[in-house]
Amino acid sequence: MIKLRNIERFHRNGPQKTWVLRDINLDIKEGEFLTIMGPSGAGKSTLLNLIGMLDEPNSGEYFFFDEPVHQFNERKRTDLHKHYLGFVFQAYHLIDELTVYENIETPLLYRNIKSGERKAMVADILDRFNMVAKKDLFPAQLSGGQQQLVGVARAIIGKPKLLLADEPTGNLHSSQGEQIMDLFKQLHNDGMTILQVTHSEKNAQYGTRIVHIEDGFVRSDIAV
Ligand SMILES: Nc1ncnc2c1ncn2[C@@H]1O[C@H](COP(=O)(O)OP(=O)(O)O)[C@@H](O)[C@H]1O
Ligand SMILES: [Mg+2]
Repeated sequence: MIKLRNIERFHRNGPQKTWVLRDINLDIKEGEFLTIMGPSGAGKSTLLNLIGMLDEPNSGEYFFFDEPVHQFNERKRTDLHKHYLGFVFQAYHLIDELTVYENIETPLLYRNIKSGERKAMVADILDRFNMVAKKDLFPAQLSGGQQQLVGVARAIIGKPKLLLADEPTGNLHSSQGEQIMDLFKQLHNDGMTILQVTHSEKNAQYGTRIVHIEDGFVRSDIAV
C-alpha cells in the first residue's frame, strides 16, 4: 500500500540544515496496524504528516498504491488525502462552531455524496459510537474522550484506506484512552490499515508492528 524510498526531510535555518528525517525506507501493507515510537523530536509527526500528504519530503520517493505521490503537486496531494486518508490528532482539531453532527459530516461535503446518503452515514456512525444523544452539542460541551471519539468518527466516516493517528490518546485519561484504542482494534479487525504514533507501550501492543525512530532514522522495525 505504502512504499517510502530514501525519504529525507530537513529545514533550512539560513545556511544551516536541520535534519528531521534521514534515509527513511518503509513498506506498509494493507491491513497492518503499525505503531511509530521514539523520543520527542525524533521526527514521528513529520513522518506521519508526510505519509498523510500534509507535508512533502525534500527528496526520496513515496508510492501510495503505486501512485508516485512525490511527483504530485499540492492540489493533487490534498485531493488524495481527502479521498483516501483519515487523520486523528492529539488535540482533536474539531471545529468549535460546528456541532458533533456537523463535525462528523464535514469530510463527506468534500465528496459528491448526496444529502440523504450523508445523513444515513452520520446517523450510522453516531449510533455505532453511542453518541446519538450528543449530536447537537458543540465540542466544548464534551469531555476530552468524547471529543476524540468525534475526531475518530470524522476520520473514518469516509471509509479511508488508511487511518493515521498522531498520539490520539496523549491528552486523555487512561480509561478514555483505552476506549479509543479498543475502537482502533475493532477497526483493524474490520480490515482498516492503521498507522499510529504513541509513547505508550500498552497502546503499541494493540498494533501488529512497531517501528522505532530516533534522530530521524529508523532504528528498529519489529513485529508485535
Ligand atoms: N518548521 C520547522 N523548522 C525547523 N525545525 C522543525 C520544523 N518543524 C519541525 N522541526 C523539528 O523537527 C524535529 C522533529 O519534529 P517532529 O516530527 O514534530 O518530532 P516528534 O513528533 O517525534 O516529536 C524536531 O526537532 C523539530 O524541532
Ligand atoms: Mg509529534
